[in-house]
Amino acid sequence: MSSVDLTGRDFLTLKDFTKEEIEYLIDLSAEYKAKKRNGERVDEYKGKNVALIFEKTSTRTRCSFEVAAHDLGMGTTYLDPKGSQIGKKESIADTARVLGSMFDGIEYRGFEQKIVEELAKYSKVPVWNGLTNEYHPTQMIADMLTVKETFGKLEGLKFVYMGDARYNMGNSLMIACTKLGLHFVACTDAKYFPDQELVDICKGYAKESGGSVTLTENVTEGTKDADVIYTDVWVSMGEPESVWEERIAALQPYQVNKAAMDNAKETAVFMHCLPAFHDLKTTIGKEIYEKFGLTEMEVTDEVFESKNSVVFEEAENRMHSIKAIMAATLKKSSY
Ligand code: CP
Ligand code: NVA
Repeated sequence: MSSVDLTGRDFLTLKDFTKEEIEYLIDLSAEYKAKKRNGERVDEYKGKNVALIFEKTSTRTRCSFEVAAHDLGMGTTYLDPKGSQIGKKESIADTARVLGSMFDGIEYRGFEQKIVEELAKYSKVPVWNGLTNEYHPTQMIADMLTVKETFGKLEGLKFVYMGDARYNMGNSLMIACTKLGLHFVACTDAKYFPDQELVDICKGYAKESGGSVTLTENVTEGTKDADVIYTDVWVSMGEPESVWEERIAALQPYQVNKAAMDNAKETAVFMHCLPAFHDLKTTIGKEIYEKFGLTEMEVTDEVFESKNSVVFEEAENRMHSIKAIMAATLKKSSY
């Protein structure tokens, strides 16, 4: 029996959680995954309801929260980017008090981290961060579960992030890796290194866990003997279109391609939070091709579709891990 008890806790960033608590969530995700495979009922949260606020669009996170909540026996209400009064006619503090009085938990996807912090401050129920500009913590539990399933361990692995390392994914992966004892490498243009203050915080985590943080612009050194190579889109939701040109120029050398994978360990895997621009089958992908002539962006189609790519296992794990996060922070129903 684990001594970890997360009942009533918010889930805003992994900075707020200990190594033991994060490991507990990863293991609980694996348990829920096994139960789903075996067709076991887990509807111990019957009668509860959760609000899902999305100020930015989503496929995986929204579907994960909805399916997970339904499996747990709960009802869901989806508030889309335009369909509520949030921020426009009603403050976050007022919204938090209203939703907190009706729902048992609130998910928020949107812009600044301070918005989700404000929601958590004013609502008396657990608040889960479904992605902000700064962090994407639910993605971390799925990612670390995927890594653990692949290698049977987390500690000591070399985890390389290529691309925009100063946004939600780079920040969150650096925190998750250093809390859990992995060796995190941000391999990118120095302009896209994570914020130095966060790097220093993570170096502190690494000291305790046995992990490390390396920032490098050198692709050969960065990817050498990597266990995991991870990337994300070069332009994130909410950023202006005008940044594409500069982003492509700076980050193209850090595209995950065959050369990068060949320089990693033979057993290395490719990961991506998705959605990914690896072909011309999307509207934005086509627009970028017409403007800049690129047929693939942060990852080549060859790597994305290769046997080393675990992106769809990773995507499935979003659902199991979000189920674990909700279950761990909510009280089970008494009937
Ligand atoms: N990875 C992720 O958060 O995907 P969505 O934007 O589809 O939710
Ligand atoms: N950095 C990306 C992550 C999407 C899951 C974004 O914020 O758009």
